[in-house]
Amino acid sequence: MPDWLRGTFFRNGPGRLDVGGEKFGHWFDGDGLICKFSFRADGVHFANRFVRTPKFLRETALNRIDCRGFGTQRPGGLLANFLRPPANPANTSIVWHGGHLLALNEGGRPFALDPDSLETLGEFDYSGELSQFNMFSAHGKIHPRTGQYFNFGMSIAGINRQGIKPGLSIYRISPSGKLEKKKTISVDCFPFCHDFALSDKHAVFFLSSIRVEHLGKIILGSRTMADCTHFDASAPMQIIVVDLDSLDVVLRTQTAPGAVVHFGNSWEDDRYIHIDAMFIDNFDANDKLKDIWHADALGGGKFIRYKIELASGSTVAAPVCDVECEFPQWDNRKTGSPHRLIYAAAVLQGDNSFFNGVARVDVENGGMQVIKLPAGCFASEPMFVARPGSFAEDDGVLLDVVYNATSQNSELWVMDAAKISDVVAKVMLPHHIPHQFHGCFTNQLF
Ligand SMILES: [Fe+2]
Repeated sequence: MPDWLRGTFFRNGPGRLDVGGEKFGHWFDGDGLICKFSFRADGVHFANRFVRTPKFLRETALNRIDCRGFGTQRPGGLLANFLRPPANPANTSIVWHGGHLLALNEGGRPFALDPDSLETLGEFDYSGELSQFNMFSAHGKIHPRTGQYFNFGMSIAGINRQGIKPGLSIYRISPSGKLEKKKTISVDCFPFCHDFALSDKHAVFFLSSIRVEHLGKIILGSRTMADCTHFDASAPMQIIVVDLDSLDVVLRTQTAPGAVVHFGNSWEDDRYIHIDAMFIDNFDANDKLKDIWHADALGGGKFIRYKIELASGSTVAAPVCDVECEFPQWDNRKTGSPHRLIYAAAVLQGDNSFFNGVARVDVENGGMQVIKLPAGCFASEPMFVARPGSFAEDDGVLLDVVYNATSQNSELWVMDAAKISDVVAKVMLPHHIPHQFHGCFTNQLF
């Protein structure tokens, strides 16, 4: 292990996918399981704990499914689901900011955790600033220049004769962890909007062509939200650019139909905002996610660079590389400013059918390094950790939790970020970790 590597790597993902022998109806409904790798002088220590959400506690006590989810119905038919919003499984990501460790899911408010014990402290509302209707996404971003944390959530902008008016709420949190400003803007649909791009002065939202339709059926309890989420190939992606200071909308424009599940870094010059994005043109994955135990393949997105002209709203999209990538990461010191490197989990054609590789993409010079994992090994989001005192975007390591299906154990791979084929260390866990989504690294040791 590199001598300089000290700190804590937190990860989150659905850790329990069934209860009392019944399977949840969607991967996204699994209960959030926090994992913690602590890099200390005497070695790497591992701990994990489920987030004690009301859903987790209730279903554990009853030993059966009792909550509605994104793709799961409560047993008992229409009446049992009538007017029941999906429960929050707190299972998508985790952030350490302003002295708060928060487990995140876009379907609700965060859950605060003790960073040492991973004990659940409770649902978190920033001293009452987040109401129970304020969704808080899993993809907030910390602005390195100001230390502010920006996040967002789909919300309700109001109710009129036509029914519920969809909204997008944007939150700015001070470096000390206070929610100092929030604003809700009107949008004209409930799109799948999972992530956003943060440049130095703007937040950019892509309202995708994946739309939640037939809200009435969801509210009445006859269908799940997953059943009612569809890709509309005729609906352009709407782009909304928000000023980080005022949280006012400064530009609305649109681009070709599609969806960006995850964004890479973004930056701006006097004229344009440049955005790295993982683009998809369908939502076929939804059916596979409903039965993740038998999914035959899950691909990545197309790596695309968007260039938006701020004055005119004209948008150009150009491919960056031809390897399917997802879970993009970069040197977080570069968030909002020009960057050279993006790291991602990759889907390489061949004998595997999931994330079977890791990519290091040089977006400035066009080159890329790709490693293919051994057969039966599957990668997750590669987290870049800079060597203290360094400046270069690859002077450090990538941390990647790899599932080894042959040994049925998980391994934490530590790769040299400059040459990712150099795996400098592996932490071999004596057990598996259910495959996870996102994480964060802090130099603080817990
Ligand atoms: Fe995500």
